[in-house]
Amino acid sequence: MKVRVWDIPTRLFHWSLVAAFAGAFFTSGTEWFLEYHTVFGYIALGLVVFRILWGFAGNRYARFSDFVGGWRRVRDYLRQAATLKPPRYLGHNPAVGWVVLFMLIMTVSLVATGIITYSGEEGRGFWAGLITRDTGIFFREIHDFLAALALAVIVIHVSAALFHDFILKENIILSMVTGTKEDPATWSERVGHMRPVDRPSSLRLVALIFAAILIGLGVRFLPPQERKIRFTGEVSEQVKVVTPKGYTARIKPDPKWKEECSPCHNAFHPTLLPAASWKRIMDGLNNHFGEDVSLDPATRREILDYLVSSSAERSTTEASKKLLASIKKGEVPLKITGIPYWRDKHSEISADVFKRKSVGSEANCLACHPGAAVGSFEDKDVHVPD
Ligand code: HEC
Ligand code: HEC
Repeated sequence: MKVRVWDIPTRLFHWSLVAAFAGAFFTSGTEWFLEYHTVFGYIALGLVVFRILWGFAGNRYARFSDFVGGWRRVRDYLRQAATLKPPRYLGHNPAVGWVVLFMLIMTVSLVATGIITYSGEEGRGFWAGLITRDTGIFFREIHDFLAALALAVIVIHVSAALFHDFILKENIILSMVTGTKEDPATWSERVGHMRPVDRPSSLRLVALIFAAILIGLGVRFLPPQERKIRFTGEVSEQVKVVTPKGYTARIKPDPKWKEECSPCHNAFHPTLLPAASWKRIMDGLNNHFGEDVSLDPATRREILDYLVSSSAERSTTEASKKLLASIKKGEVPLKITGIPYWRDKHSEISADVFKRKSVGSEANCLACHPGAAVGSFEDKDVHVPD
């Protein structure tokens, strides 16, 4: 005789969380999949929020009150398990109850530290512009540590499940798929329940509706800022700057800048140089790399204001932060292509490539970076033309 133990939401949650963790695991460690990595993180967070609600409003065996007990219970259970004679639980045993709690807390902590890292280091995600690069780097360490801890607990959890299946012959892994277990009435011994049977709560419907709303909101708002740059020149990632008030804001290109600074080369995005560099460039227009590109004072002022208001210091992009960090103290570079970070990133590209007809010069950023016009230089969008 079989009895139903795990309701569908609990099972779906369990395997979806497994999938989200696996996804996050396989997309970690390389920037190329960073965006997908964050999607898995957001999904895991949504799942956990649902599971917490379900822990109060779900079916009996899904509820925290059914499986979360004190340390003494866990200890006794582990002792009995060591003798290979632990009591059988229809729902979660006290030990795995703690694992469930741990995984819920761990997921929330991982996502939180992940978002801080993403915002600080990459200048993307919820808190872009509000978190410094150093904070981002610091939280990455915590994020990595938590991930290793989670992995260790997952290994223990899976080993324990295998122990139940193969040594205690309880077949619990399959029960998380089918939802059913052997009826305890047919077990001859060792039946352990933490609470007497009670009726499922009527809050369940509320929780389900709430979950549906959450999923809806998640689909609408949670995907990381899509930043697909197609080679049609369509760019949806918006490079942002921090305004003097501390908000992050999109950069509105200045029409005069577009007009005056693009006849000879593509207009270089303001986020690529520090304010001091822009000032010096705009002060020396009568001898601009050998050319006289003087402007009337009003136009010069407007362009300068625009360049300074969105200079590298204000920018939230990784390129700006890294360019700035590599400039020696006291130096005011006039060329982006002279900044150590730029040199370093392009050191493997041979001079012939820059001389190609399709490129022309190092300064023709747009030839290889389709998002250059809006200040976007993501690694994975790079496309060196033949
Ligand atoms: C008459 C043509 C002309 C105009 C107009 C012009 N530039 Fe330039 N600019 C040049 C030349 C030539 C170079 C040197 C390119 C090189 O070394 O490959 C240059 C280089 C630069 C560089 C350095 C690029 C690098 O290699 O990192 C910056 C920054 C720059 N210009 C900004 C501006 C701004 C801002 C304006 C608008 C106010 C502007 N330019 C307008 C001709 C022009
Ligand atoms: C001939 C093609 C080419 C040109 C021209 C070029 N780049 Fe690049 N750039 C690349 C390649 C390839 C990479 C990737 C290097 C790597 O994978 O580490 C890159 C990397 C970068 C990065 C680092 C991106 C990241 O996320 O790590 C920045 C920033 C950048 N380029 C800015 C510029 C700017 C600004 C210009 C124009 C002044 C420019 N590039 C001109 C090919 C080019």
